[in-house]
Amino acid sequence: MAIEHTVTRCGLMGFGAWGKHHADAIHKTPGAELVAIAARSEASAQAAQQAYPQARVYTDYREMLTAGGLDLVDIVVPSNRHHEMAATVLSAGIPLLLEKPMAVSLAECDDLIRIADEQQCLFAIGHELRLSSLWGQVKQLIDTGYIGEPLYVLVELSRNPYRLGADGWRYDIDRVGNWILEEPIHFFDLARWYLNGVGEPETVYASANSRQPDHPELQDNFSAIVNFTNGSYAVVTQTLCAFEHHQTVKVTGTKGALWASWSGALDRTRHATYTLRGFNGQQVETLPIEKPTGELFELEDQIAMLVDCLKTGAAPACTARDGRWSVLLCLAAAEAVRTQQIINIGDFARSAVAKS
Ligand SMILES: NC(=O)c1ccc[n+]([C@@H]2O[C@H](COP(=O)([O-])OP(=O)(O)OC[C@H]3O[C@@H](n4cnc5c(N)ncnc54)[C@H](OP(=O)(O)O)[C@@H]3O)[C@@H](O)[C@H]2O)c1
Repeated sequence: MAIEHTVTRCGLMGFGAWGKHHADAIHKTPGAELVAIAARSEASAQAAQQAYPQARVYTDYREMLTAGGLDLVDIVVPSNRHHEMAATVLSAGIPLLLEKPMAVSLAECDDLIRIADEQQCLFAIGHELRLSSLWGQVKQLIDTGYIGEPLYVLVELSRNPYRLGADGWRYDIDRVGNWILEEPIHFFDLARWYLNGVGEPETVYASANSRQPDHPELQDNFSAIVNFTNGSYAVVTQTLCAFEHHQTVKVTGTKGALWASWSGALDRTRHATYTLRGFNGQQVETLPIEKPTGELFELEDQIAMLVDCLKTGAAPACTARDGRWSVLLCLAAAEAVRTQQIINIGDFARSAVAKS
């Protein structure tokens, strides 16, 4: 549904480490206004009020919704709270940006899609890497045939350990779901996005281990191979036992190849180094990257995109159905780690839905 006034009035739920960056991105986006923030604790509520005195701050997100007047809600809370809070927002018919992972189970994803469809509500998932001038350009080059038909995708990350999160939720398997849903989910999203012109994911095999003997469930190293219906495949691999933040994408096709890399002292730097090199079948070249890239830039572009979607009715870069795919790939990969078997993704999804 298109909005008629000129400013998109945004309400933010969650003012933690990443929520503060969302607040900043909304604040900076022309045509968007941060009018309300829902925090959980008094301390976060006070921090939010101090940073954004013009916004109304609530300690109960339901009160924020009841107060009304919101064109867009942005949810940035621990992953196990996504379903409950997103279902409440969508049931109220309010357009929603929900951080990844869309939810921690397939049944929760399906429930949210059902509500959004019923309400005919814009529903976007925060896979902001799709907005990147680097990772996004890889997609554009694939789609314009630069490498011919894509056959192979590698997405690799080496970084320092995850942050604890408020109350340590990220290190509590019951609240985080699993660690594949934290960072590798972005890479499953990229891999499927890069290859979805030629096929869809069919099977997954994965391995993982932990360097913490008391916590084998918190897997610092993770690698997966996803086979697609047309015979192409993707490798998604990450380690949290390294230093800084270094991400690489390599894509090869019937004609050429692409190699993109991004390195920063941490994930949230605005001062990263990055390159994109390509072989178009004839020559190797360094390709220009039109604007700075990094998740803080992409976050701003994501908010600007949503302001535009609300005006024009266009679909967001990452839809709820894309978000569900990424959750499905993470859960199927976790099952592959657990069983050490190749998991058929369609069968896994049918069984997960039947059990719910
Ligand atoms: N797309 C990306 O690149 C990206 C990057 C980072 C994180 N994320 C995702 O963003 C989400 C948040 O991550 P984070 O790193 O910001 O975690 P965090 O630092 O732990 O922040 C979570 C915040 O949620 C608040 N909260 C919890 N329940 C709430 C409720 N009922 N109402 C309002 N606020 C509530 C907490 O409040 P208190 O402070 O009062 O406890 C905390 O401030 C996670 O789903 C994560 O996966 C995505």
